[in-house]
Amino acid sequence: MFAGQRIVVTGAASGIGAAAAAAFSASGAEVIGVDRNEPESFNGEFIRADLSSPQGVSAAAGQVRGTIHGLANIAGVPGTAPFELVLGVNVLGLRDLSEALLPQIADGGFITNLASSVAAGWAERKPQLASFVSTADWAEALAAVQGDPEVTQNSYRFSKEAVRLLTELQASRNLGRIRVNSVSPGPVETPILADFKRDHGVDKVEGAVALLGRAGSVQDIAAVVTFLASAPAGWINGTDIRVDGGLAAHRGSQQLLAVSS
Ligand SMILES: NC(=O)c1ccc[n+]([C@@H]2O[C@H](COP(=O)([O-])OP(=O)(O)OC[C@H]3O[C@@H](n4cnc5c(N)ncnc54)[C@H](O)[C@@H]3O)[C@@H](O)[C@H]2O)c1
Repeated sequence: MFAGQRIVVTGAASGIGAAAAAAFSASGAEVIGVDRNEPESFNGEFIRADLSSPQGVSAAAGQVRGTIHGLANIAGVPGTAPFELVLGVNVLGLRDLSEALLPQIADGGFITNLASSVAAGWAERKPQLASFVSTADWAEALAAVQGDPEVTQNSYRFSKEAVRLLTELQASRNLGRIRVNSVSPGPVETPILADFKRDHGVDKVEGAVALLGRAGSVQDIAAVVTFLASAPAGWINGTDIRVDGGLAAHRGSQQLLAVSS
């Protein structure tokens, strides 16, 4: 499906990124993995880079040579990390790596960003999110939100809300040339899930998994990441695909029932 295509996958050393890299390569792509950690084995080229600073992002981008078909921005850190790191890696690093690699993405190519089901309410915060993602200077962007506990205490949610907005902005700026979409997983069985339990509460995460019958698998998410990159997804652009086992639909329905009862 991806024969002859070079695809960059960040977060390729673990979890969803590793599964997406493996799925792309199994479908014929030449994968360029990027991560701060070196994977034990990797099928493709691997670039070790820390995407938590402008310098780290430039260093990573500088090592990606030639034309690429697409970029899957999957690297991410949980809300148990300091808010500067969460917003740095999950938003500003993603934004700047995308900008740096855009000229190398072939016409008809793609960017796919990993958002999250926790970002469902992103549209309510559009002005603040727009201001954050459009501030080029990292220190300035972080300084503007550091006094806002809604952001600093919910940094992971804010970061993924910003990814939802960035996805629309990136799609809009590149209409007719490349497609940009996001994927919003519910709880997925990866090393980050333990951090989510600390961040969002064990009961909330385990309750959701019990409700759904199981946590998502990395293959559940990788399948959608590869689909969005494929030719059959050629008219899907500027949108988000929820891959959460029905969790968001269920929560929405419960709220509706509570309001109408
Ligand atoms: N697992 C879930 O339940 C879940 C749910 C919703 C969204 N997500 C998102 O999916 C993405 C992948 O997460 P995962 O579950 O596979 O977690 P994971 O911890 O297994 O993988 C994250 C990867 O990102 C890399 N990374 C982190 N900081 C980095 C940095 N500064 N520079 C370079 N690489 C860095 C890590 O080294 C790791 O390999 C993340 O963006 C996460 O927020 C995960």
